[in-house]
Amino acid sequence: MRILLASSEIHPYSKTGGLADMVGALGKALARQGHQVGLVTPLYRGVREKFPDIQRLDWWLDVPWGEGRQGGQVFHRQAEKNLTVYFIDRPDFFDRNGLYTEHGHGYPDNPERYLFFSKAVVHLANYLPWRPQALHLHDWQTALAAPLVHWQRQQGAPVNLPRTLFTIHNLAYQGICDARFYALTNLPPAYWWPDGCEFFGAFNFLKGGIEYADLLTTVSPRYAREITTEAFGCQLDGVLRRRAAQLTGILNGVDYEEWNTEHNPYLRHPYSWRNLAGKAANKRELQREMGLPEREHVPLYGNISRLVDQKGTDLLLGALEEMLATEIQFVFLGSGEPVLEAACRRLAARYPAQVAVRIGFDQPLSHRIEAGCDFYLMPSRFEPCGLNQMYSLRYGTVPIVRRTGGLDDSVVDYLDDPRRANGIKFQEYSSRALARAMRKSLALYHEPALLRRYRINGMKADFSWDRTAREYSALYQKMAG
Ligand code: ADP
Ligand code: GLC
Repeated sequence: MRILLASSEIHPYSKTGGLADMVGALGKALARQGHQVGLVTPLYRGVREKFPDIQRLDWWLDVPWGEGRQGGQVFHRQAEKNLTVYFIDRPDFFDRNGLYTEHGHGYPDNPERYLFFSKAVVHLANYLPWRPQALHLHDWQTALAAPLVHWQRQQGAPVNLPRTLFTIHNLAYQGICDARFYALTNLPPAYWWPDGCEFFGAFNFLKGGIEYADLLTTVSPRYAREITTEAFGCQLDGVLRRRAAQLTGILNGVDYEEWNTEHNPYLRHPYSWRNLAGKAANKRELQREMGLPEREHVPLYGNISRLVDQKGTDLLLGALEEMLATEIQFVFLGSGEPVLEAACRRLAARYPAQVAVRIGFDQPLSHRIEAGCDFYLMPSRFEPCGLNQMYSLRYGTVPIVRRTGGLDDSVVDYLDDPRRANGIKFQEYSSRALARAMRKSLALYHEPALLRRYRINGMKADFSWDRTAREYSALYQKMAG
């Protein structure tokens, strides 16, 4: 089939989180299965310097914009066979220091930036000579392409417009803005109502995607069920229940070309489930790199994350206060809310021989943390899929996760299946419950044979993209009839 995927971030061009990993890997997997795939994403600062083979297309974008019009340019790059990446170029929107935020504040013109991007996506869907049959949209930044295509179809669009699939990676980010921005969409008033883009008097981009896409998915089966409940629905559970027949949960895969321990440019010591010696060597390197004492037999815990409410950083800090009385070490890499950054820094200052913190975004270091740690902590309040727990499994690092969303779908606890156990799960959202799970991990740490079995079970677990990509292509096929 011919598929166009649109996302505001795509690895290796831009990334703030798992969205970029997911879309980049899905595109590659689909292309390798023989589909013709286009990816479309904004041309952010620095991308052309990193990929000098990006070329300008002889194509001027021109889209309606309320009473006026907006233009832009299109660049492209043949990433591999069957896989072309299109970049939407509008320097005043996208040539900036950050993707969505700078110094902890969202750009005030984000609604215009991503409305423009969504219009550019629809423009491409209309005019690309290879005529995509499916348009796969991701998160609020591209959601509005769904009502835009819907409206073109209502008007009896002259070309065969693609069917739309909208994937929700995170319901908590909806792109809610003032109602006045609606005029820029050029959609008719009929799309502005409680079963449309309107949301308590405001304009909700994500809701527009949910209402008007032909099919919906989210990134794990459990999260698909959770978001139809009030507790997880972020005030959109009613809409999602109404569209439940069109909603499926498909667990993300892992790009094992990128996330592996045997051929990895960021790891000094390769290892595999057959030979774990390299893992111990990576632990020593990591302790040294992070400025911690090199102690082979002290269990090392890690976490890499955006510092936001979702990730359960409050639980993490609370549980560590309790657990640092025992002999453990903890390394952290991440950035986000300034109060949480400061709290992490304070913890490291108080326990310099046990806690090391790096505030920032560092992909090479993220691989070394995954490889060097014994345990990976992921106490998320909610987690649509979560990728780090799956990376941890492949790296032989036992994940400790809360039973929610994709964490529950991808990690096996002893209570789920003693033979296949590869991680530790806890339920209650409290530091006490996390500390209890960490105490279980200490017991496991002192049972080397059992620990080894957990690690090997994790390393052998298979989340390859092949299966996930097949599930998506079945949906594209279903949409295209
Ligand atoms: P989310 O998308 O909600 O942030 P995921 O677990 O799906 O969570 O994906 C997070 C991705 O972003 C992983 O690839 C993780 O390694 C990466 N990541 C997050 N924070 C950082 C950071 N500070 N430095 C490097 N990589 C990071
Ligand atoms: C979102 C979610 C995360 C998921 C990622 C990729 O960022 O927060 O759980 O893994 O998207 O789908």
